Amino acid sequence: MYKLVINGGTPLKGSIKTSGSKNATLPIFFSSILADEPLKLSNTPQLSDVSTTLRLLMDMGSNFVLEEDGSIFIDSSALTNLTAEYSLVKTMRASILTLGPMLAKYKKAKISLPGGCAIGTRPVNLHLDALEKMGATIEVKNGYIYASTKGLVGAQINFDLISVTATENIVMAASLAKGITTINNAAQEPEVTDLIRCLKKMGAKISGENTSTLVIEGVDILSGVEYAICPDRIEAGTYLVAAAITGGKITVNNIEPDAMRAVIGKLIETGADIQTNQNSIKLDMKGKRPYPVNIRTSAYPNFPTDMQAQFMALNSIAEGSSTITETIFENRFMHVPELSRMGANLKLEGNTVVCKGVKSLSGANLMATDLRASASLVLAGLAAQGSTTIERVYHLDRGYEMIEEKFKMLGADIERVQH
Ligand code: EPZ
Repeated sequence: MYKLVINGGTPLKGSIKTSGSKNATLPIFFSSILADEPLKLSNTPQLSDVSTTLRLLMDMGSNFVLEEDGSIFIDSSALTNLTAEYSLVKTMRASILTLGPMLAKYKKAKISLPGGCAIGTRPVNLHLDALEKMGATIEVKNGYIYASTKGLVGAQINFDLISVTATENIVMAASLAKGITTINNAAQEPEVTDLIRCLKKMGAKISGENTSTLVIEGVDILSGVEYAICPDRIEAGTYLVAAAITGGKITVNNIEPDAMRAVIGKLIETGADIQTNQNSIKLDMKGKRPYPVNIRTSAYPNFPTDMQAQFMALNSIAEGSSTITETIFENRFMHVPELSRMGANLKLEGNTVVCKGVKSLSGANLMATDLRASASLVLAGLAAQGSTTIERVYHLDRGYEMIEEKFKMLGADIERVQH
């Protein structure tokens, strides 16, 4: 097991390059199940969730080659095992994204029910109900989803809730279904759009991306393509908050500012000076203490739930009070007790945390619980006086490539040590 040891107080300076988006890489890897030929994917991040995805696909009969240029050549055109085993699915809920493609291509699937996780129960009813509407027969027993179909057919899908992976599952299923599928109340996250861009390059007929209504006309075959994964906007946002919380000045390269309008708006509200061009964002906090910002998470293009914990760390040292309301997940405040142990003044009231900024936090021994909560503890440690240790670093490795190396490049005093 590893932990991070951080000595806080250094304003971050310099520039970093974001990695490919975790939440675009996973569905695009699973879309390889739909193709009759291999995909060649570049800008894929080296993350444990990506390794899990590759292991799961290999377990089902995919072959992949890691090319010299870092791209990954994946061939899932002849799966031999239509089961996604519990042992792998339990470590990564996004494995549910094998369901739509397997039903569309192989008409059968047995997938372990993805359990809940630290941030919530994470049901998959929207995925299952929509696939039944498209002609799937689905039974859930002994912790597995048993699904089959004579052939998926297009349908009108009205999602009661905006769901990123439910939208992605149905877009993939509909790409090879017979007829036209309309998805109302579709998720519009940039990662959904990246999946759609890749599917269209493979020959899918999809319209309405970046809107809440998607129309997919099923085709018979999807071909192999070369595709570069979009940058990770949540990784970029995390580093920008790290610069803001330490009063520093950094440039984040390889990022689409347009995908981060809500986060950039909130960073400006904290008093950060932000300059953007086509593929980079520069943040200069000029050594200032941040102003408090009120946050209410909701679906894209509004403020992303995946940036909520990071802004709570920033608000913890802000000059005044703020509220943070989480509307997407029912238990995404696991970072609150840990930040409080560093001296943050946080009061949980239902799905809102009231934060009274303190002048500074003090280092402490902390425990990571989920991916973004762990990121907020790193940010707090970078700003705190004294030394902070964060155990269970594997949570961070799910979504942040080379996290300590990138922070070191920005001048942080951070080490990964065995314990
Ligand atoms: C995706 O999860 C992301 N994961 C999450 O990122 C992200 O936090 C989330 O979208 C919201 O943006 C990936 O893309 C791999 P949802 P997803 O379905 O699709 C409820 C990270 O940190 N719901 O959009 O699982 C659900 O409980 C991760 O990178 C149902 O009720 O989230 C939640 O309240 C964490 N029934 C809401 O919808 C369903 O069938 C939105 O969840 C599906 C979802």
